[in-house]
Amino acid sequence: MCGIVGYIGQRSALPVLIDGLRRLEYRGYDSAGIAYANGEGIGIHKTMGRIDDLKNILPAPLPEARVGLGHTRWATHGAPSDRNAHPHETGGVAVVHNGIIENYQQLKARLIAEGHEFASDTDTEVIPQLISSYMQKGFHFEEAMRMAILDLKGSYALGIMSASAPGKLFAVRNGSPLVVGFGPGEFFFASDIPAFLAYTKKFAFMEDGQIFTLAAGEEARLERLETNGNSGGNSGKRPPEPELKIVEIDWTAEMAEKEGYDYFMQKEIYEQPATVMETMREWLDDPMEMLRTMGITPKMILGLRRLHIAACGTSYHAALVGKYAIESLAHIPVEVEIASEFRYKHLLVEKNSLFVSITQSGETADTLAAQREAGKKGAHTLTICNVVGSTASREADSVLYTRAGPEIGVASTKAFTAQMAALCLLAVALGVKRGRLIADEAETLTGQLKKMPLLIEKALAAGPHVKEVAASVTGARSMLYLGRGINYPIALEGALKLKEISYIHAEGYPAGEMKHGPIALIESGLPVVVVIPMGSLFEKTLSNIEEVKARGGRVIAVTDEPASLQGKADETIPVPSTHPVLSPFVNVIPLQMLAFHTGVIRGNDVDKPRNLAKSVTVE
Ligand code: M6R
Repeated sequence: MCGIVGYIGQRSALPVLIDGLRRLEYRGYDSAGIAYANGEGIGIHKTMGRIDDLKNILPAPLPEARVGLGHTRWATHGAPSDRNAHPHETGGVAVVHNGIIENYQQLKARLIAEGHEFASDTDTEVIPQLISSYMQKGFHFEEAMRMAILDLKGSYALGIMSASAPGKLFAVRNGSPLVVGFGPGEFFFASDIPAFLAYTKKFAFMEDGQIFTLAAGEEARLERLETNGNSGGNSGKRPPEPELKIVEIDWTAEMAEKEGYDYFMQKEIYEQPATVMETMREWLDDPMEMLRTMGITPKMILGLRRLHIAACGTSYHAALVGKYAIESLAHIPVEVEIASEFRYKHLLVEKNSLFVSITQSGETADTLAAQREAGKKGAHTLTICNVVGSTASREADSVLYTRAGPEIGVASTKAFTAQMAALCLLAVALGVKRGRLIADEAETLTGQLKKMPLLIEKALAAGPHVKEVAASVTGARSMLYLGRGINYPIALEGALKLKEISYIHAEGYPAGEMKHGPIALIESGLPVVVVIPMGSLFEKTLSNIEEVKARGGRVIAVTDEPASLQGKADETIPVPSTHPVLSPFVNVIPLQMLAFHTGVIRGNDVDKPRNLAKSVTVE
């Protein structure tokens, strides 16, 4: 939700900032802006729209500056408009912000009573207004900035600069992600690593309640910052200053490029044979080693009465697949919950139980809150996460990284299959350790997992046919997705993908639940996508297909048994056969492609669907 960037060094700042914003545009894209400081004071250019719109309003040649800030917005307070675009500037202090200032109304009322005039409807504007109000009362800029921050309640990652300190840039974190990049004599900061991968691989991940002071050619200064959440403490002792830890990232700038594809989503769909394998590579030959590395002891595994998983969106659907896999292979009951619900319910998480969060970004506010709540209850927290150094990975007791590489498309695809890969390996390892899976069965499963890249390739080969099917559904007002057992979450995921990028209403249902209500929706021509792999539920799902057909629905079947569906389904999309527990890997591929092509044919920007942002860092 919103991307912020900052640069200070010897380069011309504006091209660096615009490049960084372009790479962060997946975080929000309803307005954009930059601020820079040079001998002539602070300059600001901002506009409603995307980074291309911002480029169009910039003067040519670009103003020269060695320091600046940038922002790409996902609106929370105040409609998308020029006046609400960041940076916000008052009295020579410019601020970019990702997050929500929860007490902005009280602060704004106080400032208005003092005679300040506001130029936007945002929560953010209170920050430069507060700083300049303290400066007007005689405080030095840096003091004023620290006092203003102490007034704020909520979550924020901030970039701040002032005409009174033109050689400095400040980065502040409290609840919203922020990383600082290090180059020779120069610094970058951004909401997410891909912004500046082309310039540096060295990053420090900021913690809550920290401030970086960055000045070109000088050492970066990292300090603990007093915020509304951490200012108290009755010991009277100030905690020690934080230690600067710089991490070398192994992602490349190319990984965050389209590399010949028209869309990131398309590239990410086609990367899945590789990203699934990358995720499993380290553990495939010995999944038990994975448990050891994560510090999950045999005692803990044998003592587990149940396991909890919490996640949001697509990661939640991976969690549901994980539940089926763990329950069937390890016989451990698994409770799966949407993180935003988990965090506010009466938690029945036992001490020493295992809690798993699943998150591509590692920054989803609700998932982080759920993980923290489970940790407070004494559970061992494990995160399945794609971003090294993200908040979830730093705060969890153990991390199982998915190795999907940067996922830029807002609609998640390769992260989903990578999450399923991690969960299936976890299920196999737990099954073996609990004595529920004999060595032969475990080998059959890992053998099938080793073949998964090839099977996904085969599923991808249906692309041209799926594109034709997509052309036939583009006019639909609504669609249904049905699946059973471990493929019910795949129906949910197919429906979510379609909603997100084609804007066609879609619902995922367990096929057996149709007769309890949703069958009333079926009318002549309604497209109904049915995931129907050969196996114990094939016949039952076939009956559901008959019920849909009898009411005029148009059945699009995703199956490894197309011959048996001839004359039953209107369209069949073939996928290869695999172990029943692993069938979601191949079945989700056509559903991702169907959503992608439908979105493209309808003329939508599938990489940046309306109203969405890649990382939901606010509640
Ligand atoms: O980064 P996370 O995995 O925590 O994100 C969770 C959801 O916000 C995310 O999966 C979202 O639903 C995607 N837009 C789905 O395509």
